[in-house]
Amino acid sequence: MSFRITGNMKLLKIYLGWIIVFCLVFGVAIWLTNEGRYFNEKRHAVAYASSNFHLKDQANFKRVASEENNTEDTSLSRISNHDTITRVITKQSQRLPLFTKEYLETVAPEIFNRVPEHFLPEYRNPCWLENGTLWCLPYFYIIGFHKCGTTDLFDKLLFHPSVLKVGKEPHWWAIRRLGLKKHFSLHADIIKEVQALPGAQDVSSFAWYLNWFKYQTVAHVQGSSLSIKDSNGTPKTFHSKVFGDGSVSTLTRVIFEPWDKVFPGGEDPDLLPYLMHAIQPQAKIIITLRDPVSRFKSMYYRKFAHGSSPTSLHQYAVLAVRCATKCLKESGVRHCAYFSHCQNLPQIYLGIYVAFIKHWATVYGLENMLILRMEDKLKHPVSEFRKVLNYLELENLSDAECERIMNTKVFNQNKAGHQEMLNETKALLREFYKPFNKQLATFLNDEMYLFGY
Ligand SMILES: *[C@@H]1O[C@H](CO)[C@@H](O)[C@H](O)[C@H]1NC(C)=O
Ligand SMILES: *[C@@H]1O[C@H](CO)[C@@H](O)[C@H](O)[C@H]1NC(C)=O
Ligand SMILES: *[C@@H]1O[C@H](CO)[C@@H](O)[C@H](O)[C@H]1NC(C)=O
Ligand SMILES: *[C@@H]1O[C@H](CO)[C@@H](O)[C@H](O)[C@H]1NC(C)=O
Repeated sequence: MSFRITGNMKLLKIYLGWIIVFCLVFGVAIWLTNEGRYFNEKRHAVAYASSNFHLKDQANFKRVASEENNTEDTSLSRISNHDTITRVITKQSQRLPLFTKEYLETVAPEIFNRVPEHFLPEYRNPCWLENGTLWCLPYFYIIGFHKCGTTDLFDKLLFHPSVLKVGKEPHWWAIRRLGLKKHFSLHADIIKEVQALPGAQDVSSFAWYLNWFKYQTVAHVQGSSLSIKDSNGTPKTFHSKVFGDGSVSTLTRVIFEPWDKVFPGGEDPDLLPYLMHAIQPQAKIIITLRDPVSRFKSMYYRKFAHGSSPTSLHQYAVLAVRCATKCLKESGVRHCAYFSHCQNLPQIYLGIYVAFIKHWATVYGLENMLILRMEDKLKHPVSEFRKVLNYLELENLSDAECERIMNTKVFNQNKAGHQEMLNETKALLREFYKPFNKQLATFLNDEMYLFGY
């Protein structure tokens, strides 16, 4: 008996030896291919820069997409299981995922089954008729960032005569669609009223999302009819009024928890811009930013309203920077931004704007989006407001009217957020964000995104 065990032990040792050697060789090979570029000056920045996300235009995107297409075993269009996709993408964390229309149709069949390829030309919103009933999707999306003035912008736009009032944040595309069970207190009444409509009981269904707008505003879009003449002088009706969706989750998909904890095995967070583009290629996409250091501070005072102080802010900043730096070193920006468990400290990744913007720019094209800074709105409210009207192709307003709108109370402003921040906190956070701001400035080709440091 003991003799046989010894013999088996010997064999086992040989096997183990080979397995260890194999793992070492394999590990070193992987490390060399993926991580070698870390050893430049700014670690996390370089990790991001070395990614495949340097895609400034559609042509470039198509080229990379077709290259990826040729890699048989990792072609995502061929993998049907969400779980596998999440794993594959997480592993190749710096690669551009490829989401074909065919694949997207399998992810969200209920959307593709209802939304036509062409919308009614007499509406600004994407609208269509189904059995004589008008349905519309949002004309514009203010997709983020959280604590960067999205609510203020959304509410100020409601003063424009062509913009219709609707609850700002249905949080459908990035959150409810995926079946998040958590309770949101925002718009609780409207949510219930919409659920009472036929077929709209399930808040994760596309029917609920369509009814969200149907219930609040579609009739007003339909009722806003102007008689105009087309280029041939033929009279026709034009519906000038529009509505939008201002859910901040759309851009970052982060609420207060790591993505994989909320949606275990769920769809990849990068998929959303591809999905929305496949449905609404002409959507107007607005993003607001501010110095990520002041965003962090504002988020902190918002989240920890009780017992907050510059000293405790500093403690949180130290923890957040430590946690984020560790994650960035180990896993890269994309993984940390969506999957990391440092989100509660308080969402330090959301200030890495470039990580989120790049996906939308890849799909929609930067030239088709509008990016604003909160700092500019404070300095030049009227011209910044005009930028938005111009981008949304809404009727111009007089200076006096723009001033009146911009002088109304600031919405969702965080008074405590004006508290001082220690110099050392500021220095710490600036150092953390600086390399990412630099990439953002390069990407957007404008030094103002360095935020002065
Ligand atoms: C990827 O491959 C499919 C099927 O061969 C093809 O139809 C599609 O055009 C390719 N996509 C790109 C971006 O080359
Ligand atoms: C429209 O009518 C068709 C045929 O009667 C029916 O199958 C379909 O469900 C209807 N669509 C809606 C949205 O009610
Ligand atoms: C809008 O109106 C203002 C003031 O009347 C004018 O200065 C500006 O050029 C107009 N903008 C556009 C895009 O027409
Ligand atoms: C913080 O920095 C400002 C400007 O650099 C300086 O005026 C101020 O004295 C500093 N405060 C402290 C407590 O060091």
